[in-house]
Amino acid sequence: MSVFSKFDDIKTAFKALTDIGRNPFDIRFDKILSPTEAILDGRQILLFGTNNYLGLTFDQACVDASVQAIQDAGTGTTGSRIANGTYAGHALLEQKIAEFYSKRSAMVFTTGYQANLGLISTLAGRGDHLLIDADSHASIYDACKLSGAEIIRFRHNDAQDLKRRLGRLKDLPGSRIVVVEGIYSMLGDTAPLREIVAVKREMGAYLIVDEAHSLGVLGKNGRGLCEVDDVEADVDFVVGTFSKSLGAIGGFAVSDLPDFDLLRVACRPYMFTASLPPAVVASVTASLQRVTTDNLLGARVLANSRRLYHGLAKAGFEIGPEPNPIVAIKIADRETAVRFWNMLIDNGVYINLALPPATPGSQSLIRSSVSAAHTEAQIDRAIAVMTEMGFKLGILSEDSARIVMPAAE
Ligand SMILES: Cc1ncc(COP(=O)(O)O)c(C=O)c1O
Repeated sequence: MSVFSKFDDIKTAFKALTDIGRNPFDIRFDKILSPTEAILDGRQILLFGTNNYLGLTFDQACVDASVQAIQDAGTGTTGSRIANGTYAGHALLEQKIAEFYSKRSAMVFTTGYQANLGLISTLAGRGDHLLIDADSHASIYDACKLSGAEIIRFRHNDAQDLKRRLGRLKDLPGSRIVVVEGIYSMLGDTAPLREIVAVKREMGAYLIVDEAHSLGVLGKNGRGLCEVDDVEADVDFVVGTFSKSLGAIGGFAVSDLPDFDLLRVACRPYMFTASLPPAVVASVTASLQRVTTDNLLGARVLANSRRLYHGLAKAGFEIGPEPNPIVAIKIADRETAVRFWNMLIDNGVYINLALPPATPGSQSLIRSSVSAAHTEAQIDRAIAVMTEMGFKLGILSEDSARIVMPAAE
């Protein structure tokens, strides 16, 4: 038996996908023109599937900082911080992140995935209890596996279910650690953070909030859902990524807990991997500075999100519950989703195809992400293409259009 035979089901599903059209895992752009446009297969295409929420990937200050850092410190650190040492840029970035969140400490990781993997799997060990939302990102699930702790999933966004499950642990030893996300990555809905904080306080638990999709997007100062819901003092750890709003790669965790820095010598996904290269550290420091000083960017991405969300709702698509920068169209079946996705690309709109088992409730989704850099004309063009293709495929019909609030609201 082949070592690969365990992947037979994946192979069959993958063949069904590629029989219809493109391989969604192997899209090759000829050239990236800007945060919102690229060349794909020789033709210009609008980018609506990038997570580039603030559009900072071509920001001149970020690019200049990156280029200068390569000149000054080279292309890479060639090792981990515990072995090869910390560069001044790493320390400065950690200081800036801690200041941004007004927290005592910040730790930078090489990816957002590793930030969750490292923080969660190190904090929770054998005899502890990890309570995670059922719709958690793969990095949270993988961290649970690595931790050795008991893993308890509670119903998505259901604080009462969390409370019930914490109640069942009443007489058991071990720490209780709850993990939720600010904005969920597939449907763009937010966590009921105030209710979760109330449960955490009543039942006695630590709380980790992953703000991967909400940093720079939500909150007057861009500090995410914790800021919007005014619960920052009750959240023990905030995790985030540099790969979305901050336009690069990397991750971080912040906390006010006095022993937090112990993780630097206990957290394997921090200790045993190379640290971020100087160019990335410099561009992230510059983009964080931009977020700190320019709150128009957050306002713009939210206005753009509402434009896309209400436009698609008005056309009659079934979409996620909240107008955040992730706007997901629910499609009745997998094959139609794959056809729709191929047609959108053929007609100049690049977007994400998200299929079970990676999606909540085993739904097939066409998932777009909106950027502050999108123009209203680009958003309207995307809505028009999605609507036209939606009619062609029978996803939409004449009576599916709904009355919704205008895009400006
Ligand atoms: C909620 C959430 N957490 C963590 C990550 C991992 O971040 P990164 O891609 O920067 O490793 C992602 C990535 O999509 C995410 O959606």
